[in-house]
Amino acid sequence: MRTQVGIVGAGPAGLLLSHLLHRLGIESIVLESQTRRHVEERVRAGVLEQGTVDLLDASGVGERLAREGLVHHGIELRFEGASHRIALTDLTGRSITVYGQQEVVKDLIRARLDAGGEIAFEVSDVTLSGVDSASPAIRYRHAGEARVLDCDFIAGCDGFHGVCRPSIAPGVLTEYSRSYPFAWLGILASAAPTSPELIYAHHERGFALYSMRSPKVTRLYLQCAPDEDLARWSDERIWSELHARLETSDGWRLAEGPILQRGVTPMRSFVAEPMRVGRLFLAGDAAHIVPPTGAKGLNLAVNDVRILADALASWYAGRKGAIDDYSPRCLKRVWRAEHFSWWMTSMLHRFDHGDPFHQKLQLAQLDYVTRSKAAAASLAENYVGLPFDYGEAP
Ligand code: FAD
Ligand code: DHB
Repeated sequence: MRTQVGIVGAGPAGLLLSHLLHRLGIESIVLESQTRRHVEERVRAGVLEQGTVDLLDASGVGERLAREGLVHHGIELRFEGASHRIALTDLTGRSITVYGQQEVVKDLIRARLDAGGEIAFEVSDVTLSGVDSASPAIRYRHAGEARVLDCDFIAGCDGFHGVCRPSIAPGVLTEYSRSYPFAWLGILASAAPTSPELIYAHHERGFALYSMRSPKVTRLYLQCAPDEDLARWSDERIWSELHARLETSDGWRLAEGPILQRGVTPMRSFVAEPMRVGRLFLAGDAAHIVPPTGAKGLNLAVNDVRILADALASWYAGRKGAIDDYSPRCLKRVWRAEHFSWWMTSMLHRFDHGDPFHQKLQLAQLDYVTRSKAAAASLAENYVGLPFDYGEAP
């Protein structure tokens, strides 16, 4: 088999890349190790930057998003028992949209299949070869058969635990990473949201986040131990922690409801440089991870494949140097988001080293970002997403 771009991974990065390439007249095939049902039901991110929404819309996959996405103009920061609003739209002119990642994935799968695109689910034993040559190939098994996909380029969109990044020879990539001494326990509950906006709460019992998916479904997160055992968290314990960390003395209460899904998310910062080696491009979580506090991971994946589709179109149009710019163009925004995500994480979580100096610094910073218009505007412009040309040469 042969295609122009072989894409490993049907997460948001791989699917959107395939969709954008199709619109540019470039063929691709997507190879995914999981079932279609699994990728469509995987509950993960929920916050889309305005640039992400605009791109999905402009590329023809924004119809359900426009109907069902919840547009938000602010977020709340809670600490020391009080609530403070960051007025995102007043400060930046932009907004965010709450729309589940799996809904983006469903919309993209539908668009690809409707356009006759090929996505092979449940592939196994994926290996890459020839990425340093002009004819790379992907070997894999599908429906019990060994197959070879010859291509011009390979896009490694297979997430942090995928095979593409590890297939690069040792010493070629420089990896930067940081792990955090906590994780998030996330739940999806069948309960009507009682707050119209997201709430990020810094609390002595640990961080908590209040979010939602629809007028009937709440999404909530609690800071927990990095190796947390979910079996130790009864429904009662989860709700009692959420009440304690999120509720304030002004009488606001969160509504409880049946827990539909639960899971533990590890927290990590990671960047691999460069994001292109020969004919292999890494995009999305395959190249970089941010802790979820800044809501940046999915949005960075979208930006990577936006740049990649553009670079590949230029290459096919005869501007062969365009692919050299892919990694540096992506990394500007990646490092900005790495810093923002690390900063939000450091400011909002409880650190168990019991250092009172550090706790005072966290409170001083929270006080500053909610009191100073300049500081609030800085948080807001990062949260809603910097313009796509951020970091580009003038
Ligand atoms: P993935 O979504 O990981 O997709 C990779 C795909 O590759 C998967 O389908 C996987 O099955 C497949 N794959 C892996 N290995 C192979 C293989 N060997 N062969 C074939 N296929 C393979 N980001 C935000 O922007 N906003 C948020 O609010 C936010 N909240 C989050 C909350 C949680 C709880 C979590 C876990 C993440 C959150 N993120 C958020 C991050 C976001 O979910 C990721 O950054 C995003 O999924 C990255 O997309 P991706 O396509 O690069 O990778
Ligand atoms: C959600 C996830 C995040 O990581 C975040 O910062 C905000 C919201 C969510 O799943 O809704």
